[in-house]
Order: sequence, then C-alpha cells, then structure tokens
Amino acid sequence: MLRKAFLPSKLPADPMPLFEEWFLQAREQKAQPNPDSMVVATSTPGGQPSARVVLCKKLIKDPGYVVFFTNYRSRKGAEISANPRVAAVLHWDALGRQVRLEGRLVLSPPDESDEYFASRALDSRIGAWASQQSQPLDSRATLLKNVAREAARFGTHVPRPPHWGGYRLWPEVLELWIEGPFRVHDRARWTRALEPVGAEGFNAGPWTATRLYP
Ligand SMILES: Cc1cc2nc3c(=O)[nH]c(=O)nc-3n(C[C@H](O)[C@H](O)[C@H](O)COP(=O)(O)O)c2cc1C
Repeated sequence: MLRKAFLPSKLPADPMPLFEEWFLQAREQKAQPNPDSMVVATSTPGGQPSARVVLCKKLIKDPGYVVFFTNYRSRKGAEISANPRVAAVLHWDALGRQVRLEGRLVLSPPDESDEYFASRALDSRIGAWASQQSQPLDSRATLLKNVAREAARFGTHVPRPPHWGGYRLWPEVLELWIEGPFRVHDRARWTRALEPVGAEGFNAGPWTATRLYP
C-alpha cells in the first residue's frame, strides 16, 4: 500500500488536484472496503450537530466540489434545507491520510441525480422508494413488505423518486493531513470565498494555503 511522504514543501495553490489524487489512489488501491466513505456533519438551526457516513460518488476538481446522494426527506435532508453549511471528513487509515472539508451544499441538478440513480442496482433503486429514510419504522417486516410492494409496482423500470438525489458540497475550507512518524504529521489548510450564483453553485475565489502545526 502506497504511503506517500509529506505534503510538498511549497504548498500547491489549489488543493483539489492533490485531493483527487488521494481519492483515486484510495479507490484504486482498495485502501478499505468503502474507500469513498465520507462522514458528513449537519446541524440544526439551534446548533445541534449530527454526523453520518455517506458515499462520496464524485469529485470534480475544477471548480472544486464533491457529490453524495441521499433521501432529501431524511434527517440530514431536513437539517440541510434549514442550514446548508456542513463539514465532512474522508479518512483512509491504511494510507495515513485524512481530508477535512467545510462548506456549503446545493442540490445536484436533476440530470446528475437521474444519471447516478440509473446506474444503481435494481434492488437499490427499489429501496429508494421503499424506505422513508430516518422516519420511525415499526418492524423490519414492514420495510420488507414495502420493498415487495414497490418491486411489484415498478418491475424493472424504476424512476428516480423526487425526494432522492444528490448534493454538491462546495468546500470553502479544505484540509489535507498525512500521518508522520511519532505524531509529527503534516497538515495544511486551504480557504477560499464562495459567492452564490443561481441555485446550482458558486463563483469560487482563489485558494489561500496555510501549513498548520499538526
Ligand atoms: C459505509 C456507509 C455508506 C453509506 N452511504 C450512504 C449514502 O451514500 N447515502 C445515504 O443516504 N446514506 C448512506 N449511509 C447511511 C447513513 O450513514 C445514514 O444512516 C442515513 O443516511 C440516515 O442518516 P440521517 O438520518 O442522519 O439522514 C451509509 C452508511 C454507511 C455505514
């Protein structure tokens, strides 16, 4: 397993290419069973945070955002619609690498959600209809009954539910961390300004890089 040495001594102006390199290496080397797993923390308007794992399905290095997919009516969906500012972490233990993101979410355009939904296994597409994610469920038998009902309703042509789709996470802060011997790790943070343009994204300013004590 490749464990690359430290961050370049002169930090790159833009961290996204290095983030992409780490992400692709984690996938290629199968660094862990779910190398694209990402913890996303949301919070209520009152400031109570909550965190959960999702899968980071896309990394677009220019202009710089990542995409995950979920149920828009889930707990996270409700929290995001009240407060679209989130934090996220990807961690590849076997590679000794961590990436931290802080930024803002926008909904994926419908074609991005449609495209990813269509690529999912049939059972996963049916599951998106059968599960009212984050709502109380009286028994597992009810969920299985819902799955059977939705499978019978749709057959093999399962459209994307309107409440299911992607979020694009645009980081304003991105930190790359690499493990060093005796806890002498290497760590740098990049920040940039995001100016909203329309519903689907931002004009991103240039990144500013700072090395941090680990
Ligand atoms: C490895 C792993 C991957 C997951 N991927 C997703 C995902 O891509 N989307 C999703 O909605 N939930 C995913 N989950 C489930 C979430 O962690 C969580 O249970 C669910 O989204 C409900 O969260 P909420 O009630 O906070 O909205 C994943 C869980 C694990 C452990």
